[in-house]
Amino acid sequence: MHMKKKVIIVGATSGIGNELAKIYENTNWLVGITGRRIKKLKELKATNPSRFYIKNFDCTSDNNSEKLKELVDELGGLDLLILSSGTGELNPDLNYKLEKATIDLNVSAFTEIIDWTYNYFDKQGVGQITAISSVGGLRGSGIAPSYNASKAYQINYLEGLRQKAKQSKKLIYITDIRPGLVDTDMAKGDGLFWIAPKEKVAKQIYFIIQKKKEIGYVTKRWKLIALLLKIIPSWIYKRM
Ligand SMILES: NC(=O)c1ccc[n+]([C@@H]2O[C@H](COP(=O)([O-])OP(=O)(O)OC[C@H]3O[C@@H](n4cnc5c(N)ncnc54)[C@H](OP(=O)(O)O)[C@@H]3O)[C@@H](O)[C@H]2O)c1
Repeated sequence: MHMKKKVIIVGATSGIGNELAKIYENTNWLVGITGRRIKKLKELKATNPSRFYIKNFDCTSDNNSEKLKELVDELGGLDLLILSSGTGELNPDLNYKLEKATIDLNVSAFTEIIDWTYNYFDKQGVGQITAISSVGGLRGSGIAPSYNASKAYQINYLEGLRQKAKQSKKLIYITDIRPGLVDTDMAKGDGLFWIAPKEKVAKQIYFIIQKKKEIGYVTKRWKLIALLLKIIPSWIYKRM
């Protein structure tokens, strides 16, 4: 019997993660899905019960390792983990509670999840980790400082693991997806610049992962913005 490939998508209850879960189900993978909203997980599972495996947990509760292990056991292995859970609010008043919520998920939980998965793949000798960071991680933000800084952490962390993987000579692939703006619950407001439908974004992400690319901008045109962000001098950037 041909073994099905196994993916876990952390943060599959809405947005990009939810779309990716549908694509992987459609392409014949076994799909482990997580998130806090159990109702959304059950709705997705109901569309193809034998294909989806549910694990309902809050990533900021410090039990990611345990939950991931349980889910991998239920799936019967793991080939790919996609980390899509993330949060960020506009925070013009620098309310620490908002900053902390972002750090708890995008930095602390991110680290626990990525490290557990890296070690799992290290033992297995092969595997692929994908995280959804952001174009925002390339520069600071006056209106959402912890969000952009947390995404910079993710980008830098993933680069570190890429170096570690290369030196270990294991077949561990690290894919950093950097979206621009995507039409999900997260991107609030109308008339946002170059905002892309989540379906289109998820399809592009799927192909980037398939190709085992190291970095992927979605949608593709955001590569241009990334290039600009990287070269704009600070004296101009701080006035923008
Ligand atoms: N939308 C954009 O324009 C954009 C741009 C650049 C990068 N991104 C990044 O893309 C990723 C996905 O975001 P999205 O746009 O798809 O937004 P979304 O629809 O709000 O999805 C966020 C996901 O994160 C999960 N999540 C939030 N808090 C969590 C927690 N404490 N524990 C576990 N899961 C949690 C949510 O599930 P529950 O609420 O059910 O827990 C949901 O599945 C994020 O990392 C975001 O930073 C988005």
